Amino acid sequence: MGDLMKKLHEAADYVASKINNVPISIGMVLGSGLGDLANEVEDKIIIPYSEIPHFPVSTVVGHAGRLVIGKLSGKQVLVMQGRFHFYEGYPMDTVVFPVRMMRVLGIKDLLLTNAAGCVNTAWTPGDLMIISDHIKLIADNPLRGPNPDELGQRFFDMGTAYPAELRAVAHACGERLGIPLRDGIYQLFTGPSFETPAEVRFARMCGADAVGMSTVPEAIAARHAGMRVLGISCLTNMAAGILDQPLNHEEVLETGERVKNSFGTLVKAIVADWPVA
Ligand code: HPA
Repeated sequence: MGDLMKKLHEAADYVASKINNVPISIGMVLGSGLGDLANEVEDKIIIPYSEIPHFPVSTVVGHAGRLVIGKLSGKQVLVMQGRFHFYEGYPMDTVVFPVRMMRVLGIKDLLLTNAAGCVNTAWTPGDLMIISDHIKLIADNPLRGPNPDELGQRFFDMGTAYPAELRAVAHACGERLGIPLRDGIYQLFTGPSFETPAEVRFARMCGADAVGMSTVPEAIAARHAGMRVLGISCLTNMAAGILDQPLNHEEVLETGERVKNSFGTLVKAIVADWPVA
């Protein structure tokens, strides 16, 4: 077994020992300003990242850095409260270590959420978008390097990374709850600088509806390992250059705060209706 697999198994074994090997249906990663939902997990067991062998530790303010494991909407979930971003300086394979650990732990489905800039000029800040596909034009890839064969094949299809059956569940929940949902394409930029207006125009020409600094590495690693991914973006601000005003992180957090109740309601409904693999 390679060094990576050994580390993943040690991390997964530690987590499994803390939760008495209870099987988990859905892994969840909560993005900027959306992490409060973890507090609603029942019968929870909390594991700080720093306790887990080989697990990275977060550096961003507002990202708690712990696993919250328990029941949400009647399903056993593992929530990452705080994620790792490429812009923090982590190599891509470190960014995706937790997702791979989830797979080794036996988790087959992943819900990824993020805050993103809105590129589609017909939409508005506060809108929630189900990710239908992504664009990654930056050169790095979390799977660059030796392939961990135990997780998945060297070359694999990304056409079904965000399967229609999970997106349909999300849209049905949105409709039932009266929470309007967009459906669109998320384009990854490295950050931490926000995009330039020219980059945003370029993203729009590429077909992107949203731009952000996360999610894509995790989605690629999850797909590689045969997991199904549902991605939800909270469009916290119009992307650079669309409005005549500078972007700032406060706006991102403020919008996250404003929509966090409907976002939470939506996610709980999706988890309740999730067709567990
Ligand atoms: N760009 C990139 N990432 C983001 C943005 C943005 O405008 N807003 C929130 N995350």
